[in-house]
Amino acid sequence: MKILVTGGAGFIASHIVDAYIQAGHEVTVLDNLVTGKKENINPKAVFYHLDIQDAQVVDIFAKHRFDLVNHHAAQMDVRRSVEDPVYDARNNVLGMLNILQACVKTGVQRFIFASSGGAVYGEQVTFPADERHQTQPYSPYGITKLVGEKYLFFYALTYQLGYTILRYANVYGPRQNPHGEAGVVAIFCRRLLDGQQPIIFGNGEQTRDFVYVKDVVTANVKALDRKDNEILNIGTSTETTINEVYEHLNALIGAGMAQKHGPAKEGEQFRSVIDYGYAKKVLDWQPQYDLQTGLKETVAYFQ
Ligand SMILES: NC(=O)c1ccc[n+]([C@@H]2O[C@H](COP(=O)([O-])OP(=O)(O)OC[C@H]3O[C@@H](n4cnc5c(N)ncnc54)[C@H](O)[C@@H]3O)[C@@H](O)[C@H]2O)c1
Repeated sequence: MKILVTGGAGFIASHIVDAYIQAGHEVTVLDNLVTGKKENINPKAVFYHLDIQDAQVVDIFAKHRFDLVNHHAAQMDVRRSVEDPVYDARNNVLGMLNILQACVKTGVQRFIFASSGGAVYGEQVTFPADERHQTQPYSPYGITKLVGEKYLFFYALTYQLGYTILRYANVYGPRQNPHGEAGVVAIFCRRLLDGQQPIIFGNGEQTRDFVYVKDVVTANVKALDRKDNEILNIGTSTETTINEVYEHLNALIGAGMAQKHGPAKEGEQFRSVIDYGYAKKVLDWQPQYDLQTGLKETVAYFQ
Protein backbone atom coordinates (compact mmCIF):
# COMPACT_ATOMS: atom_id res chain seq x y z
CA MET A 1 0.00 0.00 0.00
CA LYS A 2 1.14 3.58 -0.59
CA ILE A 3 0.84 5.32 2.76
CA LEU A 4 1.42 8.89 3.92
CA VAL A 5 2.27 9.26 7.60
CA THR A 6 2.06 12.86 8.80
CA GLY A 7 4.17 13.57 11.88
CA GLY A 8 6.33 10.55 11.02
CA ALA A 9 9.43 12.13 12.57
CA GLY A 10 7.71 12.30 15.96
CA PHE A 11 7.58 9.93 18.89
CA ILE A 12 4.57 7.73 18.09
CA ALA A 13 4.35 7.97 14.30
CA SER A 14 8.06 7.21 13.72
CA HIS A 15 7.42 3.79 15.27
CA ILE A 16 4.37 3.37 13.04
CA VAL A 17 6.47 4.22 9.97
CA ASP A 18 8.99 1.53 10.97
CA ALA A 19 6.22 -1.07 11.31
CA TYR A 20 4.59 -0.15 7.98
CA ILE A 21 7.94 -0.37 6.17
CA GLN A 22 8.67 -3.67 7.91
CA ALA A 23 5.33 -4.94 6.57
CA GLY A 24 6.37 -4.02 3.01
CA HIS A 25 4.39 -0.80 2.50
CA GLU A 26 5.65 2.22 0.58
CA VAL A 27 5.79 5.02 3.14
CA THR A 28 6.05 8.78 2.74
CA VAL A 29 6.57 11.04 5.76
CA LEU A 30 5.41 14.65 5.98
CA ASP A 31 6.75 16.56 8.98
CA ASN A 32 7.85 20.13 9.74
CA LEU A 33 10.23 18.88 12.47
CA VAL A 34 8.79 21.32 15.03
CA THR A 35 9.06 18.59 17.68
CA GLY A 36 10.01 15.61 15.50
CA LYS A 37 13.60 14.62 14.77
CA LYS A 38 15.24 13.73 11.50
CA GLU A 39 17.04 10.79 13.12
CA ASN A 40 13.66 9.20 13.96
CA ILE A 41 12.73 8.94 10.28
CA ASN A 42 13.17 5.51 8.77
CA PRO A 43 15.74 5.82 5.92
CA LYS A 44 13.48 3.75 3.67
CA ALA A 45 10.70 6.35 3.86
CA VAL A 46 10.42 9.26 1.43
CA PHE A 47 10.61 12.42 3.54
CA TYR A 48 9.12 15.86 2.93
CA HIS A 49 10.12 18.61 5.35
CA LEU A 50 6.89 20.57 5.15
CA ASP A 51 4.10 21.96 7.31
CA ILE A 52 0.70 20.26 6.94
CA GLN A 53 -0.76 23.76 6.43
CA ASP A 54 1.40 24.40 3.36
CA ALA A 55 -0.27 24.86 -0.03
CA GLN A 56 2.30 22.47 -1.59
CA VAL A 57 0.84 19.53 0.33
CA VAL A 58 -1.56 18.74 -2.51
CA ASP A 59 1.36 18.45 -4.99
CA ILE A 60 2.85 15.68 -2.86
CA PHE A 61 -0.52 13.92 -2.84
CA ALA A 62 -0.83 14.30 -6.62
CA LYS A 63 2.66 12.88 -7.14
CA HIS A 64 2.33 9.83 -4.86
CA ARG A 65 -1.38 8.95 -5.11
CA PHE A 66 -1.64 7.54 -1.58
CA ASP A 67 -4.01 4.68 -0.75
CA LEU A 68 -4.15 5.67 2.89
CA VAL A 69 -3.23 8.61 5.09
CA ASN A 70 -2.23 8.11 8.71
CA HIS A 71 -2.50 11.52 10.38
CA HIS A 72 -0.35 12.08 13.46
CA ALA A 73 1.08 15.57 12.85
CA ALA A 74 -0.35 17.87 15.49
CA GLN A 75 0.30 20.39 18.20
CA MET A 76 0.03 17.89 21.09
CA ASP A 77 0.89 19.94 24.16
CA VAL A 78 -2.20 20.53 26.31
CA ARG A 79 -0.65 23.42 28.24
CA ARG A 80 0.52 25.15 25.08
CA SER A 81 -3.01 24.84 23.68
CA VAL A 82 -4.31 26.72 26.74
CA GLU A 83 -1.69 29.47 26.34
CA ASP A 84 -2.07 29.76 22.57
CA PRO A 85 -5.35 28.27 21.31
CA VAL A 86 -4.89 29.97 17.93
CA TYR A 87 -1.60 28.16 17.29
CA ASP A 88 -3.24 24.91 18.39
CA ALA A 89 -6.21 25.38 16.04
CA ARG A 90 -4.00 26.35 13.09
CA ASN A 91 -2.10 23.07 13.34
CA ASN A 92 -4.84 20.73 14.50
CA VAL A 93 -7.82 22.11 12.60
CA LEU A 94 -6.58 24.07 9.56
CA GLY A 95 -3.61 21.74 9.05
CA MET A 96 -5.84 18.69 9.20
CA LEU A 97 -8.34 20.29 6.81
CA ASN A 98 -5.54 20.94 4.33
CA ILE A 99 -4.66 17.23 4.48
CA LEU A 100 -8.31 16.20 4.14
CA GLN A 101 -8.82 18.46 1.11
CA ALA A 102 -5.74 16.93 -0.52
CA CYS A 103 -7.25 13.48 0.14
CA VAL A 104 -10.44 14.46 -1.65
CA LYS A 105 -8.61 16.03 -4.59
CA THR A 106 -6.47 12.95 -5.18
CA GLY A 107 -8.95 10.18 -4.38
CA VAL A 108 -7.49 8.85 -1.11
CA GLN A 109 -9.81 6.12 0.18
CA ARG A 110 -8.78 5.65 3.80
CA PHE A 111 -7.70 7.70 6.78
CA ILE A 112 -6.38 6.86 10.24
CA PHE A 113 -6.50 9.68 12.81
CA ALA A 114 -4.64 9.91 16.14
CA SER A 115 -7.17 11.39 18.55
CA SER A 116 -6.96 11.54 22.31
CA GLY A 117 -8.89 9.47 24.84
CA GLY A 118 -7.11 11.47 27.52
CA ALA A 119 -8.45 14.80 26.24
CA VAL A 120 -11.76 14.51 24.36
CA TYR A 121 -13.83 13.15 27.26
CA GLY A 122 -12.87 15.88 29.74
CA GLU A 123 -13.22 15.11 33.46
CA GLN A 124 -14.76 11.65 33.36
CA VAL A 125 -18.03 10.70 35.00
CA THR A 126 -17.62 6.94 34.51
CA PHE A 127 -14.45 4.84 34.81
CA PRO A 128 -13.08 3.56 32.54
CA ALA A 129 -14.70 5.72 29.83
CA ASP A 130 -15.92 3.90 26.75
CA GLU A 131 -16.39 5.60 23.36
CA ARG A 132 -19.96 6.65 24.22
CA HIS A 133 -18.84 8.67 27.22
CA GLN A 134 -19.78 12.36 26.92
CA THR A 135 -17.18 14.52 25.22
CA GLN A 136 -16.60 17.74 27.15
CA PRO A 137 -12.92 18.62 26.59
CA TYR A 138 -11.18 20.72 29.25
CA SER A 139 -8.57 22.17 26.87
CA PRO A 140 -8.33 23.70 23.39
CA TYR A 141 -6.23 20.63 22.46
CA GLY A 142 -9.13 18.33 23.41
CA ILE A 143 -11.49 20.56 21.45
CA THR A 144 -9.38 20.50 18.28
CA LYS A 145 -8.96 16.70 18.46
CA LEU A 146 -12.74 16.38 18.72
CA VAL A 147 -13.20 18.81 15.84
CA GLY A 148 -10.90 16.61 13.74
CA GLU A 149 -13.15 13.64 14.50
CA LYS A 150 -16.25 15.61 13.46
CA TYR A 151 -14.63 16.65 10.18
CA LEU A 152 -13.87 13.01 9.43
CA PHE A 153 -17.55 12.19 9.86
CA PHE A 154 -18.33 14.94 7.33
CA TYR A 155 -15.68 13.78 4.83
CA ALA A 156 -16.90 10.17 5.06
CA LEU A 157 -20.48 11.27 4.55
CA THR A 158 -19.75 13.62 1.68
CA TYR A 159 -16.71 12.11 -0.05
CA GLN A 160 -16.76 8.47 1.13
CA LEU A 161 -13.38 8.81 2.82
CA GLY A 162 -13.32 5.77 5.14
CA TYR A 163 -11.75 6.42 8.53
CA THR A 164 -10.57 4.88 11.76
CA ILE A 165 -10.21 7.19 14.74
CA LEU A 166 -7.88 5.91 17.44
CA ARG A 167 -8.37 7.67 20.76
CA TYR A 168 -5.11 7.04 22.59
CA ALA A 169 -4.62 7.01 26.33
CA ASN A 170 -1.26 8.35 27.62
CA VAL A 171 1.33 6.88 25.30
CA TYR A 172 4.88 6.30 26.57
CA GLY A 173 8.03 4.60 25.32
CA PRO A 174 11.31 5.07 23.42
CA ARG A 175 11.77 8.33 21.45
CA GLN A 176 9.31 10.31 23.59
CA ASN A 177 10.66 13.81 24.20
CA PRO A 178 12.00 14.02 27.79
CA HIS A 179 12.40 17.79 27.62
CA GLY A 180 8.82 18.70 26.69
CA GLU A 181 5.91 19.65 28.91
CA ALA A 182 4.01 16.44 28.22
CA GLY A 183 5.18 12.87 28.66
CA VAL A 184 5.64 12.27 32.35
CA VAL A 185 7.37 8.89 31.87
CA ALA A 186 10.06 10.33 29.58
CA ILE A 187 10.57 13.37 31.82
CA PHE A 188 10.89 11.33 35.03
CA CYS A 189 13.17 8.80 33.30
CA ARG A 190 15.58 11.40 32.00
CA ARG A 191 15.79 13.30 35.27
CA LEU A 192 16.16 10.22 37.47
CA LEU A 193 18.89 8.85 35.18
CA ASP A 194 20.70 12.20 35.29
CA GLY A 195 20.44 12.35 39.09
CA GLN A 196 18.12 15.36 38.96
CA GLN A 197 15.04 15.59 41.17
CA PRO A 198 11.77 15.29 39.19
CA ILE A 199 8.86 17.37 40.45
CA ILE A 200 5.44 15.77 40.80
CA PHE A 201 2.70 18.34 40.23
CA GLY A 202 0.09 18.35 43.01
CA ASN A 203 -0.25 15.40 45.39
CA GLY A 204 0.52 12.88 42.62
CA GLU A 205 -2.70 10.97 43.23
CA GLN A 206 -4.06 12.07 39.84
CA THR A 207 -4.40 9.05 37.55
CA ARG A 208 -3.68 8.27 33.92
CA ASP A 209 -3.99 5.27 31.62
CA PHE A 210 -0.48 4.46 30.36
CA VAL A 211 -0.29 2.56 27.09
CA TYR A 212 3.02 1.40 25.62
CA VAL A 213 3.94 2.76 22.18
CA LYS A 214 4.41 -0.75 20.70
CA ASP A 215 0.79 -1.56 21.52
CA VAL A 216 -0.27 1.69 19.83
CA VAL A 217 1.72 0.67 16.74
CA THR A 218 -0.09 -2.68 16.61
CA ALA A 219 -3.43 -0.85 16.61
CA ASN A 220 -2.25 1.27 13.67
CA VAL A 221 -1.17 -1.84 11.76
CA LYS A 222 -4.50 -3.59 12.38
CA ALA A 223 -6.40 -0.43 11.37
CA LEU A 224 -4.85 -0.57 7.87
CA ASP A 225 -7.44 -3.10 6.71
CA ARG A 226 -10.42 -1.12 7.92
CA LYS A 227 -12.57 1.68 6.52
CA ASP A 228 -15.77 1.39 8.47
CA ASN A 229 -15.72 4.76 10.18
CA GLU A 230 -15.13 3.60 13.73
CA ILE A 231 -13.93 5.40 16.85
CA LEU A 232 -11.80 3.17 19.05
CA ASN A 233 -10.20 3.72 22.46
CA ILE A 234 -6.60 2.54 22.56
CA GLY A 235 -5.70 2.25 26.23
CA THR A 236 -5.31 -0.33 28.96
CA SER A 237 -8.48 0.17 31.07
CA THR A 238 -6.03 0.44 34.01
CA GLU A 239 -5.67 3.52 36.17
CA THR A 240 -2.24 4.38 37.55
CA THR A 241 -1.34 7.31 39.79
CA ILE A 242 1.59 9.57 38.95
CA ASN A 243 3.11 8.60 42.32
CA GLU A 244 3.00 4.92 41.29
CA VAL A 245 4.74 5.68 37.98
CA TYR A 246 7.39 7.62 39.89
CA GLU A 247 8.00 4.76 42.31
CA HIS A 248 8.21 2.16 39.49
CA LEU A 249 10.81 4.27 37.68
CA ASN A 250 12.68 5.11 40.86
CA ALA A 251 13.01 1.38 41.61
CA LEU A 252 13.89 0.35 38.02
CA ILE A 253 16.60 3.00 37.79
CA GLY A 254 17.75 2.53 41.40
CA ALA A 255 17.81 6.30 41.86
CA GLY A 256 16.69 6.20 45.50
CA MET A 257 15.18 9.67 45.22
CA ALA A 258 12.24 10.54 47.49
CA GLN A 259 9.16 12.11 45.92
CA LYS A 260 9.14 15.89 45.68
CA HIS A 261 5.86 17.66 45.00
CA GLY A 262 5.17 21.08 43.47
CA PRO A 263 1.99 23.09 42.97
CA ALA A 264 -0.78 21.37 41.01
CA LYS A 265 -1.22 22.46 37.38
CA GLU A 266 -4.35 24.47 36.93
CA GLY A 267 -7.08 22.88 34.82
CA GLU A 268 -5.42 19.47 34.83
CA GLN A 269 -7.82 16.52 34.76
CA PHE A 270 -7.79 14.46 37.92
CA ARG A 271 -8.66 10.96 36.69
CA SER A 272 -8.35 9.52 33.21
CA VAL A 273 -8.76 5.89 32.14
CA ILE A 274 -10.34 4.51 28.98
CA ASP A 275 -12.02 1.21 28.16
CA TYR A 276 -10.48 -0.74 25.26
CA GLY A 277 -13.30 -3.30 25.05
CA TYR A 278 -14.62 -2.04 21.72
CA ALA A 279 -11.16 -2.11 20.07
CA LYS A 280 -10.84 -5.68 21.28
CA LYS A 281 -14.15 -6.56 19.67
CA VAL A 282 -13.83 -4.87 16.28
CA LEU A 283 -10.05 -4.62 15.82
CA ASP A 284 -9.04 -7.75 17.75
CA TRP A 285 -6.63 -5.48 19.61
CA GLN A 286 -5.63 -5.52 23.25
CA PRO A 287 -2.54 -4.26 25.05
CA GLN A 288 0.26 -6.82 25.25
CA TYR A 289 2.56 -4.82 27.53
CA ASP A 290 1.91 -4.29 31.21
CA LEU A 291 3.28 -1.11 32.78
CA GLN A 292 6.27 -2.81 34.40
CA THR A 293 7.46 -4.35 31.10
CA GLY A 294 6.86 -1.17 29.09
CA LEU A 295 8.69 0.96 31.65
CA LYS A 296 11.63 -1.45 31.69
CA GLU A 297 12.05 -1.14 27.92
CA THR A 298 11.67 2.63 28.14
CA VAL A 299 14.32 2.95 30.85
CA ALA A 300 16.67 0.76 28.79
CA TYR A 301 16.20 3.12 25.84
CA PHE A 302 16.91 6.26 27.86
CA GLN A 303 19.94 4.61 29.45
N1 LIG B 1 1.69 11.14 23.27
C1 LIG B 1 0.47 10.85 23.67
O1 LIG B 1 0.30 10.37 24.80
C2 LIG B 1 -0.71 11.07 22.77
C3 LIG B 1 -1.99 10.78 23.27
C4 LIG B 1 -3.09 10.97 22.44
C5 LIG B 1 -2.91 11.41 21.15
N2 LIG B 1 -1.66 11.70 20.69
C6 LIG B 1 -1.54 12.19 19.31
O2 LIG B 1 -0.58 11.43 18.61
C7 LIG B 1 0.09 12.25 17.67
C8 LIG B 1 1.59 12.14 17.82
O3 LIG B 1 1.96 12.59 19.11
P1 LIG B 1 3.43 12.38 19.71
O4 LIG B 1 3.28 12.16 21.16
O5 LIG B 1 4.17 11.40 18.90
O6 LIG B 1 4.01 13.86 19.53
P2 LIG B 1 5.24 14.41 18.69
O7 LIG B 1 5.28 15.87 18.96
O8 LIG B 1 6.47 13.61 18.94
O9 LIG B 1 4.77 14.14 17.20
C9 LIG B 1 4.11 15.08 16.40
C10 LIG B 1 4.86 15.18 15.07
O10 LIG B 1 4.14 16.05 14.20
C11 LIG B 1 5.02 17.03 13.68
N3 LIG B 1 4.23 18.23 13.44
C12 LIG B 1 3.61 19.01 14.36
N4 LIG B 1 2.96 20.02 13.77
C13 LIG B 1 3.16 19.88 12.44
C14 LIG B 1 2.75 20.61 11.29
N5 LIG B 1 2.01 21.71 11.41
N6 LIG B 1 3.15 20.18 10.06
C15 LIG B 1 3.92 19.07 9.94
N7 LIG B 1 4.34 18.34 10.97
C16 LIG B 1 3.97 18.74 12.21
C17 LIG B 1 6.10 17.20 14.71
O11 LIG B 1 7.32 17.71 14.18
C18 LIG B 1 6.26 15.77 15.23
O12 LIG B 1 7.18 15.04 14.46
C19 LIG B 1 -0.46 13.66 17.85
O13 LIG B 1 -1.49 13.87 16.91
C20 LIG B 1 -1.04 13.63 19.24
O14 LIG B 1 -2.08 14.55 19.40
C21 LIG B 1 -0.56 11.55 21.47
